[in-house]
Amino acid sequence: MAQKLAFRTFRAIQYRILRRSQVGWTFLFVLQSGPSLLVRSLLASFILLAVAMAAPVAAAQKVYMSVDVSKAGAKIDRNLFGQFAEHLGHGVYEGVWVGPDSKIPNIRGIRSDVVAAMKALRVPDVRWPGGCFADEYHWRNGIGSQRTVTLNPNWGGVIEPNTFGTHEFMDFLDQIGAEAYLSVNVGSGTPHEAAEWLEYLTTAQPTTLAKERTANGHPAPYKVAFLGIGNESWDCGGNMTPDYYLSQLKIYSRFVRNFNPLQQDKQQMLKIAVGPGGGDPRWTEWTEAIMKAYQSHTWSWDMNGLSLHSYTVVKWPPSYASVGFGEAEYAQILKSTLEMNDLIAKHSAIMDKYDPQKKVALVVDEWGGWYAPIPGSHPGFLAQQNSLRDAILAALNLNIFAQHADRVRMANIAQMINVLQAMILTDKEKMILTPTYYVYKIYVPFQDATFVPVSFDAGTYTHDSISLPRIDAIAAKDKAGKLWLAITNVDPNQQAEIEIRLAGTNAKSAAGETLTAPKVDSVNTFDVPNTVVPKPISAKARDGKLTLELEPKSVTVIALEQ
Ligand code: AHR
Repeated sequence: MAQKLAFRTFRAIQYRILRRSQVGWTFLFVLQSGPSLLVRSLLASFILLAVAMAAPVAAAQKVYMSVDVSKAGAKIDRNLFGQFAEHLGHGVYEGVWVGPDSKIPNIRGIRSDVVAAMKALRVPDVRWPGGCFADEYHWRNGIGSQRTVTLNPNWGGVIEPNTFGTHEFMDFLDQIGAEAYLSVNVGSGTPHEAAEWLEYLTTAQPTTLAKERTANGHPAPYKVAFLGIGNESWDCGGNMTPDYYLSQLKIYSRFVRNFNPLQQDKQQMLKIAVGPGGGDPRWTEWTEAIMKAYQSHTWSWDMNGLSLHSYTVVKWPPSYASVGFGEAEYAQILKSTLEMNDLIAKHSAIMDKYDPQKKVALVVDEWGGWYAPIPGSHPGFLAQQNSLRDAILAALNLNIFAQHADRVRMANIAQMINVLQAMILTDKEKMILTPTYYVYKIYVPFQDATFVPVSFDAGTYTHDSISLPRIDAIAAKDKAGKLWLAITNVDPNQQAEIEIRLAGTNAKSAAGETLTAPKVDSVNTFDVPNTVVPKPISAKARDGKLTLELEPKSVTVIALEQ
């Protein structure tokens, strides 16, 4: 037994060293087909010693990174860390709203545990009420003491009680400290209905609608920071052609006004048009049409953002499991998620043609992993678990957004609670924070920080036929001048030794947090909620260099300390 173990250990070391080179594979082949076991082992030891001396393992593993603090890039807009909450499954009802009579601790019906958790993320904005739901939403159903009970035909055909409406949403935003991103109904609604909603929300004048708002408990006008004009109008939002949508966009942009006195000069409401849902010609033609019209727009209409929806799904319908998968599915999903970079580059190039000054932001207001529903759950509720893979996926996407920060100035992960790639999962009175939540938490310092270029040779992680960059990283300087680095080790099997060369800083050490877990599909559950949680990490700088050991499949954020 002991001999077997020793041999297995030996073979493991032999494998690890030899797999690094083609020469190594040749030796391995000879060793496997040569004379007796003992002779082979002795011969191998000799060869291994020689190989190890010539090419130490650590050196082969090392990634050299250089960060030049003097080279600042675009601002990483805090709105890149936005959320999306649709009336879908348990996203709003149970996830946010439990009602004032619930046993679950709440303030005015909004659960307090969720508020505390979201506050810690410094959520910049929340997109609401959808999604496909938005294009069938009639705001009057959700105000006043008597709520109209309707249906939610998009998401399971269940009852929509409308107990969570405009005031409850604005109250929730107030409690977590976020801004409103309202998506108005362009599909089954009218410009008149949307215009009245905005007047109801924002006017300070004593109009009939303002008096109704006051009677419903809010005399002061609300602030609406962002207005989404339709949702996926090319599909669930009404299957419109680009030309048909453009005529709607012009009308809604003109007549759906924000009257809040504080939003007239500064802090004007930004209007976001429906943009593409992929990279095929259908979508590039859509971007072309909208941006071409924007280029020659008159005083009567405007837009400040073009949305982009892109889920990591590999193929429709979503079939990848959200838990209980292996390395093959890990590698496949991450390969698929990295396509976000090309997608952004493709649409940015079209936008550059018509808007070289980058006045219009690309707003990735629906993104994230979309997997098969949890077995036994309602298929229309889009309930899925959230694993370490999702943490890596989130970090890679946030890095992509930051790398395109000059054009991508807003993004909203789908969705905030209990739906798709959620921050939080709830089960009645219980609540857990997901691995994705913790990535958002450790990335907080990047909100409104200034992008700093970081150069490195990422190396390659390979599984079967899939090859991915082994390391991904971004750097940024916060308002206080502190330098932050976010580094992801994609490789689930190998540690990464990172040597960071620091130009333009006298940093003596670095400290931060690292997120990893035993397996690629490790999750937090209601019974075991702390399997995937960040842990502290630190390192000392020597001779202008800082060396970090990163765990396999990990996301790390560190700050440099003087
Ligand atoms: O996020 C779920 C759905 O995905 C949204 O309602 C829709 O906009 C998209 O297709």
